[in-house]
Amino acid sequence: MTETVFKVIGGATLTGSIAVPGAKNSVLKLMTAALLAPGKTTLTNVPDIADVGIMLELLTRLGCQVSHNRSISEVQIDVPAEIGHRADYDLVRRMRASINVLGPILARCGNVDVALPGGDDIGSRGVDMHIAGLTKMGAEFGSDHGYLIARAPAGLVGAHIFLDLPSVGATENILTAAVLASGETVLDNAAREPEIIDLCEMLVKMGAHIDGIGTPTLTVTGVAALKPVTHQVIGDRIVAGTWAAAAVATQGEVTVTGVDPNLLSLPLSKLHEMGAEIATQENSFSVSMKQRPTAVDIVTLPYPGFPTDLQPQFIVLNAISTGSAMITENLFEARFRFTQELARLGADLHIDGHHCLVKGVTRLSGAPVVSTDVRAGAALVIAGLVADGETLVSGVEHVDRGYADFVANLNSLGAVVSREELS
Ligand code: UD1
Repeated sequence: MTETVFKVIGGATLTGSIAVPGAKNSVLKLMTAALLAPGKTTLTNVPDIADVGIMLELLTRLGCQVSHNRSISEVQIDVPAEIGHRADYDLVRRMRASINVLGPILARCGNVDVALPGGDDIGSRGVDMHIAGLTKMGAEFGSDHGYLIARAPAGLVGAHIFLDLPSVGATENILTAAVLASGETVLDNAAREPEIIDLCEMLVKMGAHIDGIGTPTLTVTGVAALKPVTHQVIGDRIVAGTWAAAAVATQGEVTVTGVDPNLLSLPLSKLHEMGAEIATQENSFSVSMKQRPTAVDIVTLPYPGFPTDLQPQFIVLNAISTGSAMITENLFEARFRFTQELARLGADLHIDGHHCLVKGVTRLSGAPVVSTDVRAGAALVIAGLVADGETLVSGVEHVDRGYADFVANLNSLGAVVSREELS
């Protein structure tokens, strides 16, 4: 049996320019939103990542005809008048974002069966807020043989919904149900991640009525039908932040294009505190670093707080810093699991509940490590770039879920990384 790993040779300084593709956490939701309108939806600026392939497979099983033209980063989804209503376990297990079909299918068919996602590598993730919100809109939920069953025989009706916390997934499922419900839905304490704004903008183009876009209160007035559109996926701020962190770790100089730097205000200001020079332009930014980073505390929170999806990469920066920092993870309890792997490279880390105390060390040394999720994998590669000798990162399938052409892009910036098959 063979295993694919990233072989990272430490010591390179990243320099040059890198373009980020569309955001994973947006495109997957835009693809499910296509289900709301019969006919052909076209998405552009689509990243070439494994999760897009899984979502295309799911849409195909629901009766859509799909095509993916990688050379122009475009996906087309032709949605039939009648769509299927079942998302199977084999797909939901591979990609938790499959749960995002819940809102659109319930709104279109009044009937949906989605395999329960269960836990994943960053901890168990509930769907209680998705269910509570849709129940308020008239849906009835049950479970059967591992499936979440939702029925709305009389159709969905607008309601006033308060989320306990601004969940990205719950906001999206309630939003994509409310656009076709009868009457007005007010969603309070909604998530306001840029990817949700992207989804709202596509829905509005499709004919939806949504007020308060980008605020914690979304007011949706349902319409009878929506039409398919062409939409460009927003640039991936997490991939962009990963390149920025890699530039700082390796004391390099990198320009990142294809993303609005305002969406990364907090992470970029943290990099500045660490000692990096940051220059922002309209749809790009540059990072330059000439010394070891100064340690900087991080607290993850829903947007516009510090993104949990950049927490592992910033732990790596603190691990090679000149001081000590406290990292507080408020969203996913198991996200510190990767620190055990980072410790194998010589990082000095102490976990206490959802806090991680990181003491900077002068040297990391290469070793085999296992990536436990997509961001942990990227972070371990960054650590490998600054570790002495060779770091073998396994679990590359996680990284493939979110980073298109990761190895080629790293090498284009001067890194020495290869994809190897180990027996
Ligand atoms: C999305 C992103 C993920 C990102 C996260 C937070 C995608 C595909 N994934 O995940 O990369 O890290 O937002 O920015 O877009 N929760 C409940 N009950 C619920 C819903 C959520 O307890 O009904 C909890 C979760 O377990 C988690 C927290 O709320 O602890 C945040 O989850 P949520 O914002 O929903 O994240 P996702 O949509 O799963």
